[in-house]
Amino acid sequence: MAIVHPEDREQSLREFERALSETGTFTHQYRVVNSAKKTIWLELHAVTIRDAQGNPVKLIGITQNITERKQMEEVRHTWAERLEAAREDERRRLSHQLHDDIVQQLAVASIKLLRLEKRLVELLPEENAVFSELVMAQELLRRNQQSLRQMAHVLHSGVLEQFGLIEAFRKFTRNIDTLLKEQSINFSLNLPSNFPRLEPIVENGIYRTVQEAIINALKHAQAKLISLRLAVKSDLALVVITDDGCGFDTKKTENGGIGVVSMYERAEIIGAKLDIASQNGKGTTITLEVSLEKSRRKEQTLSQTH
Ligand SMILES: Nc1ncnc2c1ncn2[C@@H]1O[C@H](COP(=O)(O)OP(=O)(O)OP(=O)(O)O)[C@@H](O)[C@H]1O
Ligand SMILES: [Mg+2]
Repeated sequence: MAIVHPEDREQSLREFERALSETGTFTHQYRVVNSAKKTIWLELHAVTIRDAQGNPVKLIGITQNITERKQMEEVRHTWAERLEAAREDERRRLSHQLHDDIVQQLAVASIKLLRLEKRLVELLPEENAVFSELVMAQELLRRNQQSLRQMAHVLHSGVLEQFGLIEAFRKFTRNIDTLLKEQSINFSLNLPSNFPRLEPIVENGIYRTVQEAIINALKHAQAKLISLRLAVKSDLALVVITDDGCGFDTKKTENGGIGVVSMYERAEIIGAKLDIASQNGKGTTITLEVSLEKSRRKEQTLSQTH
């Protein structure tokens, strides 16, 4: 055990104990530090040999140097993380541009139209057709302004950073309220009060996955009911999004969208398990399982131990 990397010793011991108590083959990946103080990744494939009474006698197996594979995985992971961070920056930039620029200009246009309406009433009191066109244009502007504002809020994840997932989901639900009403969709939200704060990258991954799943349900499912449930089950955070809509073939990839692909990419980045179950005519259920032990926010763990 002395050559095993200090960070892997505890888990390696646990794994060896498990291998001795269970039957079948055993695979374990761990790091060792060689005489030149270099860290090497090894993968052990082993089987426990037992005596006639079933007591473990020895463990035989082979180890393989997988350092290069691990390094490649790490590089891929780092790039995926950077890409996600760049996407998030881009969303923030778009959100600001939508909110501070386009929405404000639409507001100015609305005010100008209102002034024009007042002047026209004075100048041409009999021109009803002109007025009704003006009123229609105003209504169109108002509606676009509202949906662009909502879009800006959906793109921005400020509440998430400050208050965490539960508040962010409450706000997201308020933002899609108009869309839900327009399509007569019921929305069921089931959030626990004791959900812990997780590492920012994990919270962001969960938030964007839920957002994509719900927007997909709104866009594609023709559902009557959409639900979002978050739960804590021993060491797992469970996130489940369901709809009772038309469902789809999850194996088909030639639709050109990037939403579903991004869900899998994000799950991989945050080390979560993603499952999409859907059947034509039977709705869709998306489940994300996140290990709390690995992703709990460090500051929180520290403050809890004080
Ligand atoms: N909840 C759902 N109900 C029914 N069909 C769905 C649902 N979610 C996804 N789909 C189907 O899967 C396809 C792929 O979804 P994906 O999110 O990848 O792409 P998109 O929503 O079409 O575009 P994008 O997300 O890139 O804006 C959709 O075009 C749709 O046909
Ligand atoms: Mg989509």
